[in-house]
Amino acid sequence: MTETWAPSSWRDRPAVQQPSWPDDAALEAALKQLSTLPPLVFAGEARNLTTALGQVADGKAFLLQAGDCAESFDAFTADGIRDRLQIILQMAIVLSYSAGVPIVKVGRIAGQFAKPRSADTELVGGVELPSFRGHMVNDILPTAAGRTPNPERLLQAYHQSASTLNLLRAFVKGGFADLSRVHEWNQQFVSSSREGQRYERLADEIDRALRFMRACGIDSETQPNLHEVDFFTSHEALILGYEEALTRQDSLTGDWYDCSAHMLWIGERTRHPGGAHVEFLAGVGNPIGCKIGPTITPDEVLELCQTLNPHRQPGRLTLIARMGADAVEDRLRPLLAAGRDAGHPVVWACDPMHGNTYTAEGGRKTRHVDAVLREISGFFASHRAEGTWPGGVHIELTSDDVTECLGGVEEIFDADLDTRYETMCDPRLNGRQSLDLAFQVAELLKR
Ligand code: PEP
Ligand code: CO
Repeated sequence: MTETWAPSSWRDRPAVQQPSWPDDAALEAALKQLSTLPPLVFAGEARNLTTALGQVADGKAFLLQAGDCAESFDAFTADGIRDRLQIILQMAIVLSYSAGVPIVKVGRIAGQFAKPRSADTELVGGVELPSFRGHMVNDILPTAAGRTPNPERLLQAYHQSASTLNLLRAFVKGGFADLSRVHEWNQQFVSSSREGQRYERLADEIDRALRFMRACGIDSETQPNLHEVDFFTSHEALILGYEEALTRQDSLTGDWYDCSAHMLWIGERTRHPGGAHVEFLAGVGNPIGCKIGPTITPDEVLELCQTLNPHRQPGRLTLIARMGADAVEDRLRPLLAAGRDAGHPVVWACDPMHGNTYTAEGGRKTRHVDAVLREISGFFASHRAEGTWPGGVHIELTSDDVTECLGGVEEIFDADLDTRYETMCDPRLNGRQSLDLAFQVAELLKR
């Protein structure tokens, strides 16, 4: 981090994965307007998340970070927001009830609108077009106009994030997340499945426990903890102009916070130690994440720890390993050992999605549930071997009945991929596959 860090000091560093905005003046105008708009979250909330993640770093809690690969401006409805929250609440209940640890719940939601791409352009029907970079930047529609980066989208992303967060706050504090409603979170297409039935049995047990507690005088009226949950937002801090414009100085501490979300992460493609993304996130007070792929070395991990969390604050830094099912134990163990021996209080999370993506015969990008679960098992095994705490999972999912990832208890085959392939970017687990994953992770946690 530069000695005189400022929200704009990233501008002196190489910034990869930034769109080629065609009109500088229009970009400046949009950023200027963003910088005058209210923050989406406030610093105290971000600090609360750091504290909660500190518990994870300490082996006393588990992180569930999940949501869309990319949110969409088009699929933006109250039901959609409710369903996305619902599946995370269901998974969290499965994990905490079965494994008996508190679950820190963080959505990839209310801001996850920008995507890094492996190529700047793609060929569509013989025509070379700019790649889709998320609705914050351009449209997925493969036309020259659709793919031209448009800074108005930065403002639309802000406003959609604000509305989404508003509804999420209402749901999690206003009664929807009340423990007595665990049955209601089970959606129709999920409840009819084997995973859904398993969930129903667990919900019955929770009901019974709640009745018992009520008989003892403990209910959600006397215990707000049973009535509401803490739910946090996160996204990849990719488009640095947007993040800078929403970075504000906390009046209480004088520290800078990126108020576009509670937690921000750095992607695998933007984690260069001297790069703009690391420079920017090193200076904000939020809890931050950094994706790490199979090519990273122990020294590079230690350098990231030193740059991003020099004061070794527990909960400040989550390293999200996305190694691939075959590589995970080999690649991860030396990194865990290095962090442990250097005494860095890392939250280690497993992203079992991005190292297991491939293109199916029909041309669809997909992932197999078996590989996803294998990477998670390898992640837990690595931690067992190194004596470190498997802190959490980072999952791309939706509660919808999509056919994007192969496998699962009610198996999805190659030929099914076209049926309901709805993602804007990477393939997501559907509601049943997500719930099944939660049960499997709970088993691993219990051991
Ligand atoms: C993502 O999380 O959608 C993503 C692009 O991940 P990664 O940076 O790990 O490739
Ligand atoms: Co993705």
